[in-house]
Amino acid sequence: MTTLPKPRQPELKTSLPGPKTAAIMARDAQHLSTSYMRPYPFVPDHGEGVWLTDVDGNTMLDFFAGIAVSTTGHAHPHVVKAVQEQVTRFTHVCLTDYPQEITTSLAERMVKHVEKPGEKWRVFFGNSGAEAVEAAVKLARNHTGRSHIISTIGSFHGRTYGAITLTGSKTKYKRGFGPLLPNVSHVPYPNPFRPPLGATAGTCGQAVIDHIEGLFQTIIPADEVAAIIIEPMQGEGGYIVPPADFLPKLRALCDRHGIMLIFDEVQAGMGRSGKMYSFQHFDGQNGMNCQPDIITVAKGIASGMPISAMLAKESVMTWPVGSHGSTYGGNPVAAAAAHATLDLLEGVVRHPGCGESLMENAAQVGEFIMAELKAMQVEFPFIGDVRGAGMFIGIEFVMPDGRPDGKLRDAASMAMFERGLLNLDCGEAVIRISPPLILTREEAATGLEIMRDALRTLK
Ligand SMILES: Cc1ncc(COP(=O)(O)O)c(C=O)c1O
Repeated sequence: MTTLPKPRQPELKTSLPGPKTAAIMARDAQHLSTSYMRPYPFVPDHGEGVWLTDVDGNTMLDFFAGIAVSTTGHAHPHVVKAVQEQVTRFTHVCLTDYPQEITTSLAERMVKHVEKPGEKWRVFFGNSGAEAVEAAVKLARNHTGRSHIISTIGSFHGRTYGAITLTGSKTKYKRGFGPLLPNVSHVPYPNPFRPPLGATAGTCGQAVIDHIEGLFQTIIPADEVAAIIIEPMQGEGGYIVPPADFLPKLRALCDRHGIMLIFDEVQAGMGRSGKMYSFQHFDGQNGMNCQPDIITVAKGIASGMPISAMLAKESVMTWPVGSHGSTYGGNPVAAAAAHATLDLLEGVVRHPGCGESLMENAAQVGEFIMAELKAMQVEFPFIGDVRGAGMFIGIEFVMPDGRPDGKLRDAASMAMFERGLLNLDCGEAVIRISPPLILTREEAATGLEIMRDALRTLK
């Protein structure tokens, strides 16, 4: 009888934090910005695939991928090679002033995932998610000649002044930083688990649409609204998937009033949800369309190299020469990493054990994780909701009366970390599962087993 090799497990060689980790954490606390958060003591030394080893030699399973960034895992050989090759050619000239083939071909490649027959898109490159959001809002204002922007409660769009004004998830991001951008309003996000506006899970999408139309009658002239910006699946706010009818109805509302629809795909995009862009789960369903006018992407685009993109329909990208730019945006080394990442996401290059492509792997292994987590709800009644798509999954912790239980979530997060599972919170009481998209079913099962063990200590 053949015995299968035991799947790899986290290896904890010291108690946590180990001595080197503790020493670096202490120096970090002395010299780095007081604004940085440190959810638990972890200092990385090196990584390989879905595993990260800290400076004390403790190896942990990565279930958060540097906030949904490291799509191809750590130090993927295909990405490493692409970066090394580009570094030896040139690391910078400046895309704002000179074209570079590597970025031109990246743009050509990216628009293929959104273009429909008879419709052309263009790309502006930046360095971070916030920069892509700033570009999107500037373009929407410039194109429409209108100023008002509508965003959603619970959203996160970044920390620059425009992006922070649009953000609606936590007041701590705004306290003491005003005045912020004028002419920005927030409307509820249709969260089926906690429906806003007195609606139900099934009616909350329509309720939010009615709410916006109501604002247009009473407070905000619709013909002064440049754009509605929304995460098609809300990230920092709690990994929330809206009801299927919502985004098509929002598209129709924007069409009625000549408003630009911006989808912020910074966290859920680039294959994480099992499709290239998360809105594509809703577009074309039941004959309904929700193609936006502008898309922002960052995070998962280049396996951790800093690059972001703002994609817009050609008919919308009408701002004049010189009106917007960036010194580093579209950097060739980051662009090389983005090409290599896309190779793996699209399946042009196969990753062993991950099916046709990483996007397909995200869909299949994500489905397995969701099913397992839903089954866990029987044993752990404090898991109030499990939701998501692909490897964009949220677990919401609740009190016996159904209210969000942030304290229990924090305890669960720490118990998982202590067992070698790197994880990250979001929303009021949610743990997000956003692992590298190369996670196999076996590795997922290992992580889920650690979770079960950790959650049992909370019972
Ligand atoms: C949806 C979304 N938009 C924008 C941002 C900002 O990205 P960055 O931190 O790269 O500026 C984030 C970051 O978490 C995000 O999740």
